Amino acid sequence: MAYSETKVVIGGLAHIPIIIGFFYLIRRQYSFGAMLRTGKNALSNKVTAPAKKSSPAPAKAFPAPAKASPAPAKASPAPPKVAASKKPHADVPVNTYKPKAPFTGTVTENYSALKEGAIGKVQHITFDLSGGDPEFKYVEGQSCGILAAGEDAKGKPHRPRLYSIASTRYGDNFEGNTLSLCVRQLQYEKDGETINGVCSTYLCNLSPGDKVKISGPVGKEMLLPDEEDSNIIMLATGTGIAPMRAYLRRMFEPTEIEKHQWNFKGKAWLFMGAPKTANLLYDDDFEHYKSKFPDNLRYTKAISREQKNIKGGRMYIQDRVLEHAEEIFNMIENPKTHIYLCGLKGMEPGIDEAMTTAAAAKGLDWSELRPKLRKAGRWHAETY
Ligand code: FAD
Ligand code: A2P
Repeated sequence: MAYSETKVVIGGLAHIPIIIGFFYLIRRQYSFGAMLRTGKNALSNKVTAPAKKSSPAPAKAFPAPAKASPAPAKASPAPPKVAASKKPHADVPVNTYKPKAPFTGTVTENYSALKEGAIGKVQHITFDLSGGDPEFKYVEGQSCGILAAGEDAKGKPHRPRLYSIASTRYGDNFEGNTLSLCVRQLQYEKDGETINGVCSTYLCNLSPGDKVKISGPVGKEMLLPDEEDSNIIMLATGTGIAPMRAYLRRMFEPTEIEKHQWNFKGKAWLFMGAPKTANLLYDDDFEHYKSKFPDNLRYTKAISREQKNIKGGRMYIQDRVLEHAEEIFNMIENPKTHIYLCGLKGMEPGIDEAMTTAAAAKGLDWSELRPKLRKAGRWHAETY
Protein backbone atom coordinates (compact mmCIF):
# COMPACT_ATOMS: atom_id res chain seq x y z
CA MET A 1 0.00 0.00 0.00
CA ALA A 2 2.77 2.39 1.06
CA TYR A 3 4.63 1.33 -2.07
CA SER A 4 1.78 2.24 -4.42
CA GLU A 5 1.17 5.61 -2.69
CA THR A 6 4.82 6.47 -3.32
CA LYS A 7 4.33 5.48 -6.95
CA VAL A 8 1.33 7.77 -7.25
CA VAL A 9 3.21 10.68 -5.67
CA ILE A 10 6.26 10.17 -7.92
CA GLY A 11 4.00 9.80 -10.95
CA GLY A 12 2.27 13.09 -10.06
CA LEU A 13 5.55 14.93 -9.58
CA ALA A 14 6.79 13.67 -12.94
CA HIS A 15 3.94 15.57 -14.66
CA ILE A 16 4.87 18.94 -13.17
CA PRO A 17 7.56 19.86 -15.78
CA ILE A 18 5.13 18.91 -18.56
CA ILE A 19 2.42 21.16 -17.11
CA ILE A 20 4.90 24.04 -16.62
CA GLY A 21 6.10 23.63 -20.22
CA PHE A 22 2.51 23.65 -21.45
CA PHE A 23 1.73 26.93 -19.62
CA TYR A 24 5.01 28.47 -20.84
CA LEU A 25 4.06 27.78 -24.46
CA ILE A 26 0.59 29.31 -24.03
CA ARG A 27 2.03 32.39 -22.31
CA ARG A 28 4.70 32.82 -24.96
CA GLN A 29 2.15 32.75 -27.80
CA TYR A 30 -0.11 35.17 -25.94
CA SER A 31 2.75 37.47 -24.98
CA PHE A 32 4.03 37.98 -28.54
CA GLY A 33 0.60 39.12 -29.68
CA ALA A 34 0.24 41.31 -26.59
CA MET A 35 3.66 42.83 -27.16
CA LEU A 36 2.68 43.83 -30.68
CA ARG A 37 -0.59 45.30 -29.48
CA THR A 38 0.86 47.29 -26.62
CA GLY A 39 4.36 47.98 -27.86
CA LYS A 40 5.70 46.56 -24.59
CA ASN A 41 7.72 43.39 -24.54
CA ALA A 42 5.62 41.29 -22.25
CA LEU A 43 8.05 38.43 -22.72
CA SER A 44 10.87 40.41 -21.16
CA ASN A 45 13.85 38.08 -20.62
CA LYS A 46 11.94 34.90 -21.12
CA VAL A 47 11.97 34.88 -24.89
CA THR A 48 15.27 36.58 -25.48
CA ALA A 49 17.17 34.26 -23.18
CA PRO A 50 16.45 30.97 -25.00
CA ALA A 51 16.75 32.72 -28.37
CA LYS A 52 20.32 33.73 -27.53
CA LYS A 53 21.22 30.16 -26.69
CA SER A 54 19.72 28.60 -29.78
CA SER A 55 21.02 31.27 -32.18
CA PRO A 56 24.53 32.53 -31.56
CA ALA A 57 24.67 34.34 -34.93
CA PRO A 58 23.35 37.77 -33.82
CA ALA A 59 26.03 37.96 -31.17
CA LYS A 60 28.65 37.45 -33.89
CA ALA A 61 27.07 39.94 -36.23
CA PHE A 62 26.88 42.59 -33.51
CA PRO A 63 29.75 41.40 -31.39
CA ALA A 64 29.89 43.90 -28.55
CA PRO A 65 26.34 44.82 -27.70
CA ALA A 66 27.08 45.56 -24.06
CA LYS A 67 28.98 48.78 -24.76
CA ALA A 68 27.74 49.84 -28.19
CA SER A 69 24.15 49.06 -27.50
CA PRO A 70 23.15 48.43 -23.93
CA ALA A 71 20.23 46.11 -23.27
CA PRO A 72 17.36 48.21 -24.63
CA ALA A 73 15.12 47.91 -21.60
CA LYS A 74 17.88 49.15 -19.28
CA ALA A 75 19.23 51.81 -21.65
CA SER A 76 15.98 53.70 -21.89
CA PRO A 77 13.63 53.57 -18.94
CA ALA A 78 10.64 54.99 -20.85
CA PRO A 79 10.47 53.03 -24.10
CA PRO A 80 6.73 52.78 -24.85
CA LYS A 81 6.94 56.04 -26.84
CA VAL A 82 7.88 54.01 -29.94
CA ALA A 83 4.46 52.55 -30.32
CA ALA A 84 2.25 54.35 -27.89
CA SER A 85 2.44 58.01 -28.93
CA LYS A 86 -0.75 58.99 -30.77
CA LYS A 87 0.60 61.57 -33.19
CA PRO A 88 4.23 60.82 -33.84
CA HIS A 89 6.12 63.19 -36.14
CA ALA A 90 3.39 65.84 -35.90
CA ASP A 91 5.93 68.59 -36.63
CA VAL A 92 7.30 67.00 -39.82
CA PRO A 93 6.62 69.31 -42.80
CA VAL A 94 4.27 68.05 -45.49
CA ASN A 95 3.20 69.66 -48.79
CA THR A 96 4.99 72.95 -48.23
CA TYR A 97 5.01 73.25 -52.00
CA LYS A 98 1.99 71.85 -53.86
CA PRO A 99 2.25 70.61 -57.48
CA LYS A 100 0.26 73.67 -58.63
CA ALA A 101 2.72 76.07 -56.99
CA PRO A 102 6.00 74.14 -56.92
CA PHE A 103 9.39 75.26 -55.71
CA THR A 104 12.05 75.82 -58.36
CA GLY A 105 15.29 74.11 -57.43
CA THR A 106 18.62 74.24 -59.23
CA VAL A 107 20.62 71.15 -60.12
CA THR A 108 24.04 71.16 -58.48
CA GLU A 109 25.18 67.63 -59.34
CA ASN A 110 24.07 64.72 -61.50
CA TYR A 111 26.32 61.68 -61.63
CA SER A 112 26.02 57.95 -62.21
CA ALA A 113 25.42 55.89 -59.08
CA LEU A 114 26.54 52.74 -60.93
CA LYS A 115 29.90 51.11 -61.49
CA GLU A 116 31.28 49.90 -64.80
CA GLY A 117 29.42 46.90 -66.18
CA ALA A 118 26.14 47.72 -64.44
CA ILE A 119 22.75 47.26 -66.05
CA GLY A 120 20.73 50.38 -66.96
CA LYS A 121 21.13 53.96 -65.84
CA VAL A 122 20.81 55.20 -62.25
CA GLN A 123 21.77 58.76 -61.35
CA HIS A 124 22.40 60.55 -58.06
CA ILE A 125 21.00 64.05 -58.53
CA THR A 126 21.25 66.97 -56.12
CA PHE A 127 19.17 70.16 -56.10
CA ASP A 128 19.85 73.45 -54.37
CA LEU A 129 16.77 74.42 -52.35
CA SER A 130 18.01 77.81 -51.15
CA GLY A 131 15.86 80.89 -51.20
CA GLY A 132 12.44 79.34 -50.66
CA ASP A 133 9.79 81.35 -48.85
CA PRO A 134 8.70 79.32 -47.01
CA GLU A 135 11.85 77.22 -46.88
CA PHE A 136 11.70 73.75 -48.45
CA LYS A 137 12.48 71.55 -45.44
CA TYR A 138 12.16 67.76 -45.21
CA VAL A 139 13.27 64.86 -43.05
CA GLU A 140 14.73 61.42 -43.77
CA GLY A 141 12.20 59.03 -45.30
CA GLN A 142 10.08 61.63 -47.10
CA SER A 143 9.58 61.92 -50.86
CA CYS A 144 9.16 64.83 -53.24
CA GLY A 145 7.30 65.38 -56.49
CA ILE A 146 9.08 66.28 -59.72
CA LEU A 147 7.29 68.04 -62.55
CA ALA A 148 9.11 67.25 -65.78
CA ALA A 149 9.48 70.10 -68.22
CA GLY A 150 7.29 69.97 -71.32
CA GLU A 151 3.79 68.71 -71.95
CA ASP A 152 2.04 65.38 -72.23
CA ALA A 153 0.29 64.03 -75.34
CA LYS A 154 -2.78 66.15 -74.54
CA GLY A 155 -0.75 69.36 -74.34
CA LYS A 156 -1.08 69.49 -70.55
CA PRO A 157 1.84 69.86 -68.11
CA HIS A 158 3.22 66.49 -67.04
CA ARG A 159 1.73 65.15 -63.82
CA PRO A 160 4.24 65.01 -60.95
CA ARG A 161 6.12 61.79 -60.26
CA LEU A 162 7.22 60.93 -56.74
CA TYR A 163 10.84 60.19 -55.76
CA SER A 164 12.18 59.14 -52.36
CA ILE A 165 14.63 61.66 -50.97
CA ALA A 166 18.08 60.05 -50.70
CA SER A 167 19.70 62.74 -48.53
CA THR A 168 19.28 63.62 -44.87
CA ARG A 169 17.66 66.90 -43.83
CA TYR A 170 21.18 68.39 -43.80
CA GLY A 171 21.78 67.43 -47.42
CA ASP A 172 24.90 65.91 -48.93
CA ASN A 173 26.83 69.14 -48.19
CA PHE A 174 25.55 69.23 -44.56
CA GLU A 175 24.32 72.80 -45.01
CA GLY A 176 20.60 72.05 -44.91
CA ASN A 177 19.85 73.62 -48.28
CA THR A 178 19.94 70.69 -50.74
CA LEU A 179 17.97 67.58 -51.59
CA SER A 180 19.27 64.50 -53.43
CA LEU A 181 17.50 61.78 -55.38
CA CYS A 182 18.50 58.38 -56.69
CA VAL A 183 16.73 57.86 -60.01
CA ARG A 184 16.63 54.89 -62.36
CA GLN A 185 15.79 55.77 -65.94
CA LEU A 186 12.71 53.76 -66.91
CA GLN A 187 13.25 52.07 -70.26
CA TYR A 188 11.25 49.30 -71.85
CA GLU A 189 10.62 47.82 -75.27
CA LYS A 190 7.26 48.13 -77.00
CA ASP A 191 6.54 47.00 -80.55
CA GLY A 192 10.26 46.88 -81.27
CA GLU A 193 10.77 50.43 -80.02
CA THR A 194 12.59 51.60 -76.87
CA ILE A 195 10.28 53.69 -74.69
CA ASN A 196 11.89 56.09 -72.21
CA GLY A 197 10.01 57.08 -69.06
CA VAL A 198 9.07 60.76 -69.15
CA CYS A 199 10.19 62.02 -65.77
CA SER A 200 13.03 59.59 -65.02
CA THR A 201 14.63 60.37 -68.39
CA TYR A 202 14.16 64.09 -67.79
CA LEU A 203 15.87 63.80 -64.39
CA CYS A 204 18.71 61.55 -65.52
CA ASN A 205 19.61 63.98 -68.32
CA LEU A 206 19.67 67.16 -66.21
CA SER A 207 22.85 69.25 -66.00
CA PRO A 208 24.15 71.45 -63.18
CA GLY A 209 22.43 74.83 -63.33
CA ASP A 210 19.15 73.44 -64.74
CA LYS A 211 15.99 74.63 -62.99
CA VAL A 212 13.50 71.99 -61.83
CA LYS A 213 9.99 72.21 -60.41
CA ILE A 214 9.78 70.31 -57.13
CA SER A 215 6.72 69.76 -54.93
CA GLY A 216 6.49 68.40 -51.42
CA PRO A 217 7.87 67.12 -49.24
CA VAL A 218 5.35 64.28 -48.89
CA GLY A 219 4.90 61.18 -46.77
CA LYS A 220 5.23 60.12 -43.17
CA GLU A 221 5.18 56.38 -43.78
CA MET A 222 8.94 55.93 -43.91
CA LEU A 223 10.11 58.21 -41.12
CA LEU A 224 12.68 57.00 -38.60
CA PRO A 225 11.68 56.63 -34.97
CA ASP A 226 13.05 59.28 -32.60
CA GLU A 227 14.58 56.83 -30.14
CA GLU A 228 18.33 56.46 -30.45
CA ASP A 229 18.23 52.83 -29.36
CA SER A 230 15.74 51.67 -31.99
CA ASN A 231 16.65 48.74 -34.21
CA ILE A 232 16.18 49.33 -37.93
CA ILE A 233 15.79 46.49 -40.43
CA MET A 234 15.89 47.74 -44.03
CA LEU A 235 14.79 45.75 -47.08
CA ALA A 236 15.59 47.50 -50.37
CA THR A 237 15.68 46.66 -54.05
CA GLY A 238 17.26 48.98 -56.62
CA THR A 239 16.44 52.66 -56.06
CA GLY A 240 14.45 51.58 -53.00
CA ILE A 241 17.80 52.21 -51.32
CA ALA A 242 17.15 55.98 -51.49
CA PRO A 243 15.48 56.44 -48.07
CA MET A 244 17.85 53.88 -46.54
CA ARG A 245 20.83 55.92 -47.73
CA ALA A 246 19.37 58.87 -45.83
CA TYR A 247 18.87 56.76 -42.68
CA LEU A 248 22.38 55.33 -42.84
CA ARG A 249 23.97 58.72 -43.34
CA ARG A 250 21.99 60.03 -40.38
CA MET A 251 23.15 57.12 -38.25
CA PHE A 252 26.76 56.72 -39.30
CA GLU A 253 28.12 59.73 -41.23
CA PRO A 254 30.43 61.56 -38.79
CA THR A 255 29.49 65.13 -39.83
CA GLU A 256 25.79 64.24 -39.61
CA ILE A 257 26.25 62.98 -36.08
CA GLU A 258 28.05 66.19 -35.11
CA LYS A 259 25.26 68.28 -36.64
CA HIS A 260 22.22 66.66 -35.15
CA GLN A 261 23.43 65.16 -31.87
CA TRP A 262 21.25 62.12 -32.48
CA ASN A 263 23.50 59.25 -31.47
CA PHE A 264 22.13 56.07 -32.90
CA LYS A 265 22.78 53.24 -30.45
CA GLY A 266 20.64 50.45 -31.91
CA LYS A 267 21.22 47.80 -34.54
CA ALA A 268 20.74 48.62 -38.21
CA TRP A 269 20.55 45.78 -40.72
CA LEU A 270 20.38 46.52 -44.44
CA PHE A 271 19.26 43.89 -46.95
CA MET A 272 19.99 45.19 -50.44
CA GLY A 273 18.89 43.61 -53.72
CA ALA A 274 20.60 44.45 -57.01
CA PRO A 275 21.05 42.57 -60.28
CA LYS A 276 24.86 42.81 -60.37
CA THR A 277 27.65 43.87 -58.02
CA ALA A 278 28.17 46.94 -60.19
CA ASN A 279 24.52 47.88 -59.53
CA LEU A 280 24.91 48.00 -55.73
CA LEU A 281 24.07 51.63 -54.99
CA TYR A 282 26.21 53.54 -52.43
CA ASP A 283 27.94 50.25 -51.64
CA ASP A 284 31.32 51.83 -50.79
CA ASP A 285 29.69 54.17 -48.26
CA PHE A 286 27.81 51.34 -46.59
CA GLU A 287 30.91 49.14 -46.45
CA HIS A 288 32.75 52.05 -44.87
CA TYR A 289 30.03 52.56 -42.24
CA LYS A 290 30.09 48.83 -41.52
CA SER A 291 33.85 48.89 -40.97
CA LYS A 292 33.52 51.90 -38.63
CA PHE A 293 30.46 50.64 -36.74
CA PRO A 294 30.63 46.82 -36.84
CA ASP A 295 28.53 46.52 -33.70
CA ASN A 296 25.71 48.60 -35.08
CA LEU A 297 25.51 47.94 -38.81
CA ARG A 298 24.99 44.73 -40.67
CA TYR A 299 24.83 44.68 -44.47
CA THR A 300 23.50 41.68 -46.43
CA LYS A 301 23.41 41.69 -50.23
CA ALA A 302 21.28 39.70 -52.66
CA ILE A 303 22.83 39.96 -56.11
CA SER A 304 20.22 38.37 -58.28
CA ARG A 305 22.18 37.72 -61.44
CA GLU A 306 25.41 36.62 -59.79
CA GLN A 307 24.22 34.60 -56.81
CA LYS A 308 21.80 31.68 -56.64
CA ASN A 309 19.21 30.90 -53.97
CA ILE A 310 18.93 27.40 -52.50
CA LYS A 311 16.49 26.41 -55.25
CA GLY A 312 19.01 27.43 -57.91
CA GLY A 313 17.04 30.54 -58.90
CA ARG A 314 17.99 34.24 -58.73
CA MET A 315 19.02 35.41 -55.30
CA TYR A 316 16.44 37.94 -54.05
CA ILE A 317 16.30 39.71 -50.72
CA GLN A 318 13.46 37.47 -49.57
CA ASP A 319 15.88 34.52 -49.90
CA ARG A 320 18.27 36.38 -47.60
CA VAL A 321 15.40 37.10 -45.21
CA LEU A 322 14.67 33.37 -45.04
CA GLU A 323 18.33 32.56 -44.40
CA HIS A 324 18.29 34.92 -41.40
CA ALA A 325 14.71 34.30 -40.34
CA GLU A 326 15.41 33.43 -36.73
CA GLU A 327 17.63 36.45 -36.10
CA ILE A 328 15.11 38.74 -37.78
CA PHE A 329 12.28 37.41 -35.65
CA ASN A 330 14.36 37.69 -32.51
CA MET A 331 14.81 41.35 -33.40
CA ILE A 332 11.12 41.82 -34.19
CA GLU A 333 10.21 40.51 -30.76
CA ASN A 334 11.88 43.62 -29.40
CA PRO A 335 9.30 46.45 -29.55
CA LYS A 336 12.05 48.89 -30.48
CA THR A 337 12.59 47.19 -33.83
CA HIS A 338 11.20 48.81 -37.00
CA ILE A 339 11.17 47.30 -40.48
CA TYR A 340 11.41 49.40 -43.64
CA LEU A 341 10.65 48.06 -47.10
CA CYS A 342 11.26 50.10 -50.24
CA GLY A 343 11.64 49.44 -53.96
CA LEU A 344 9.93 47.21 -56.49
CA LYS A 345 6.27 46.52 -55.86
CA GLY A 346 6.94 42.93 -56.92
CA MET A 347 9.10 42.29 -53.87
CA GLU A 348 6.22 42.61 -51.40
CA PRO A 349 4.62 39.17 -52.02
CA GLY A 350 8.06 37.54 -51.86
CA ILE A 351 8.89 39.24 -48.57
CA ASP A 352 5.48 38.28 -47.19
CA GLU A 353 6.04 34.67 -48.19
CA ALA A 354 9.46 34.62 -46.55
CA MET A 355 8.10 36.23 -43.38
CA THR A 356 5.21 33.73 -43.33
CA THR A 357 7.64 30.81 -43.43
CA ALA A 358 9.95 32.44 -40.88
CA ALA A 359 7.05 33.19 -38.53
CA ALA A 360 5.65 29.68 -38.85
CA ALA A 361 9.00 28.25 -37.74
CA LYS A 362 8.42 30.15 -34.49
CA GLY A 363 4.81 29.00 -34.25
CA LEU A 364 3.55 32.47 -35.28
CA ASP A 365 1.10 33.61 -37.92
CA TRP A 366 2.53 36.37 -40.13
CA SER A 367 -0.87 37.35 -41.55
CA GLU A 368 -1.84 38.33 -37.99
CA LEU A 369 1.49 39.81 -36.98
CA ARG A 370 2.05 42.09 -39.95
CA PRO A 371 -1.06 44.26 -39.42
CA LYS A 372 -0.21 44.46 -35.73
CA LEU A 373 3.32 45.63 -36.49
CA ARG A 374 1.89 48.14 -38.92
CA LYS A 375 -0.62 49.40 -36.38
CA ALA A 376 2.17 49.77 -33.86
CA GLY A 377 3.99 51.97 -36.40
CA ARG A 378 6.82 49.48 -36.80
CA TRP A 379 6.21 48.16 -40.32
CA HIS A 380 6.96 50.80 -42.97
CA ALA A 381 6.53 50.00 -46.67
CA GLU A 382 6.78 52.12 -49.79
CA THR A 383 6.93 50.23 -53.07
CA TYR A 384 6.32 51.35 -56.64
P1 FAD B 1 6.34 57.16 -67.27
O1 FAD B 1 6.59 57.93 -68.51
O2 FAD B 1 5.34 57.68 -66.31
O3 FAD B 1 6.08 55.69 -67.65
C1 FAD B 1 5.60 54.79 -66.68
C2 FAD B 1 4.51 53.98 -67.35
O4 FAD B 1 5.10 53.20 -68.37
C3 FAD B 1 3.90 52.98 -66.40
O5 FAD B 1 2.88 53.55 -65.66
C4 FAD B 1 3.44 51.92 -67.35
O6 FAD B 1 2.19 52.29 -67.87
C5 FAD B 1 4.46 51.98 -68.46
N1 FAD B 1 5.46 50.93 -68.33
C6 FAD B 1 6.45 50.87 -67.42
N2 FAD B 1 7.20 49.77 -67.61
C7 FAD B 1 6.64 49.12 -68.65
C8 FAD B 1 6.95 47.92 -69.32
N3 FAD B 1 7.99 47.16 -68.94
N4 FAD B 1 6.17 47.55 -70.34
C9 FAD B 1 5.12 48.30 -70.74
N5 FAD B 1 4.77 49.45 -70.13
C10 FAD B 1 5.52 49.85 -69.10
N6 FAD B 1 11.80 55.98 -58.90
C11 FAD B 1 13.14 56.12 -58.80
O7 FAD B 1 13.86 55.95 -59.81
N7 FAD B 1 13.73 56.46 -57.61
C12 FAD B 1 13.01 56.66 -56.48
O8 FAD B 1 13.58 56.97 -55.42
C13 FAD B 1 11.59 56.54 -56.56
N8 FAD B 1 10.82 56.75 -55.48
C14 FAD B 1 9.48 56.61 -55.56
C15 FAD B 1 8.72 56.83 -54.41
C16 FAD B 1 7.35 56.69 -54.47
C17 FAD B 1 6.54 56.92 -53.20
C18 FAD B 1 6.74 56.32 -55.68
C19 FAD B 1 5.25 56.15 -55.76
C20 FAD B 1 7.47 56.13 -56.82
C21 FAD B 1 8.85 56.27 -56.78
N9 FAD B 1 9.65 56.10 -57.93
C22 FAD B 1 11.01 56.20 -57.82
C23 FAD B 1 9.05 55.83 -59.24
C24 FAD B 1 8.80 57.16 -59.98
O9 FAD B 1 7.78 57.90 -59.34
C25 FAD B 1 8.33 56.98 -61.43
O10 FAD B 1 7.19 56.15 -61.43
C26 FAD B 1 9.36 56.38 -62.35
O11 FAD B 1 10.53 57.20 -62.39
C27 FAD B 1 8.81 56.28 -63.77
O12 FAD B 1 8.35 57.53 -64.15
P2 FAD B 1 8.53 58.04 -65.67
O13 FAD B 1 7.86 59.34 -65.79
O14 FAD B 1 9.96 57.95 -66.06
O15 FAD B 1 7.77 56.93 -66.46
P1 A2P C 1 16.31 40.70 -61.39
O1 A2P C 1 16.13 41.95 -62.20
O2 A2P C 1 17.64 40.05 -61.62
O3 A2P C 1 15.18 39.72 -61.55
P2 A2P C 1 17.26 47.26 -60.13
O4 A2P C 1 16.14 48.19 -59.84
O5 A2P C 1 18.60 47.91 -60.04
O6 A2P C 1 17.04 46.47 -61.37
O7 A2P C 1 17.28 46.21 -58.92
C1 A2P C 1 16.14 45.50 -58.56
C2 A2P C 1 16.56 44.18 -57.95
O8 A2P C 1 15.39 43.52 -57.44
C3 A2P C 1 17.15 43.24 -58.98
O9 A2P C 1 18.15 42.46 -58.39
C4 A2P C 1 15.96 42.39 -59.37
O10 A2P C 1 16.31 41.11 -59.85
C5 A2P C 1 15.31 42.23 -58.01
N1 A2P C 1 13.92 41.77 -58.14
C6 A2P C 1 13.16 41.67 -59.25
N2 A2P C 1 11.95 41.17 -58.96
C7 A2P C 1 11.95 40.94 -57.63
C8 A2P C 1 10.99 40.41 -56.72
N3 A2P C 1 9.78 40.03 -57.12
N4 A2P C 1 11.33 40.31 -55.43
C9 A2P C 1 12.55 40.71 -55.00
N5 A2P C 1 13.50 41.20 -55.81
C10 A2P C 1 13.21 41.32 -57.11
